[in-house]
Amino acid sequence: MRIAERVRTLPPYLFAAIERQIAERKAAGIDVISLGIGDPDLPTPPHVIEALAAGAADPATHQYPSNQGESGFREAVAGFYATRFGVTLDPADQIVPLLGAKEGIAHICQVLLDPGDLALAADPGYPVYVTGPRLADGEAAYLPLLPELGFQPDLEAIPSETLERARMIFVSYPNNPTGAVIEDDFFARLVAFARTNDLVVVHDNAYADITYDGYVAPSFLATPGASEVGVELFSLSKSYNMTGWRAGAIVGNPELVDAYWRLKTNLDSGMFGAVQRAAAAALSGSQECVREMCRVYQHRRDLLVNALRTVGMHVEPPKGTIYLWVPVPEGYTSAGFTQQVLEQADVVVTPGAAYGPSGEGYVRLSLTVPDDLLEEAVRRIEERVRL
Ligand code: MLT
Repeated sequence: MRIAERVRTLPPYLFAAIERQIAERKAAGIDVISLGIGDPDLPTPPHVIEALAAGAADPATHQYPSNQGESGFREAVAGFYATRFGVTLDPADQIVPLLGAKEGIAHICQVLLDPGDLALAADPGYPVYVTGPRLADGEAAYLPLLPELGFQPDLEAIPSETLERARMIFVSYPNNPTGAVIEDDFFARLVAFARTNDLVVVHDNAYADITYDGYVAPSFLATPGASEVGVELFSLSKSYNMTGWRAGAIVGNPELVDAYWRLKTNLDSGMFGAVQRAAAAALSGSQECVREMCRVYQHRRDLLVNALRTVGMHVEPPKGTIYLWVPVPEGYTSAGFTQQVLEQADVVVTPGAAYGPSGEGYVRLSLTVPDDLLEEAVRRIEERVRL
């Protein structure tokens, strides 16, 4: 049987491979602590679940949904963007549902790339910034995020021959995997750069409200001119513990949102109406549940940072996301340290190199397990791994 080259050469998704390793160990009776995938361990807020149940009981949601999205969903997204970010979105043509940000990342590549075109992909960055372009018969060019620039790219250092082929640029702040946030005029510089180089900005805003120490993350679309050059991929996964629900939205430039809608009408039949109503309840309801969750994560962040320091692994506490981006001990590669920690301590961390070549020398630890497991994981590393 002949598999198409784009899939034959496609590696399994990073966490699919890690999940297999975890399953094998658990099947062997090994107690594994996973600080790998960023999958919230806390429950979806009750009022969101109640809205799902009510929506599911409404026969109107049992038929095909529309890829345009129910008006209630689009109005809730527009209201959230106005209140939370100060961004005005027209529900009629600037908002379309996504089945999670991940599909948005993969499919926007099919909207923007012709064969051989380039996507500039933040490096380190979410793996689909690279596999998405490949699945669109395009290519990804790594855009190193420099620690000395607060894990921002040096836009002026991008070679002209790369820019000639580039059609789009993936960035994400708060940033997965580094935890970096924007506290300067980077988005304004990015809008100007996109205009000059005829690039589309795709801002992956999956961690918008997972922030700490009083920091409040901006939307890219709050930047003057942003809606003329790009879109934002918004997700409810992390803010409302809804990774399993697959609920998000692509918002911003009307032409791009419409093109995305046209593609999606040919790919799937949209988001289950009851999930749309649950998402609307999350976005239009009290946001205290998000603030409480961030308090939990900030406590876990500080606990893990301090525990790692006691074993000689130093990392600055991030102001955003659910991740610590930790330099590996001297003498290790990111893959080598990841494997040693798994084999000797039965703890899962994510190798930084899996996020791109600039991730080498780091591992990523998620804050998605309770305090006692975070402490146990570090104790095991201290006792069983040569640091
Ligand atoms: C991550 O851990 O980077 C993400 O939560 C995984 C995903 O979105 O698939």
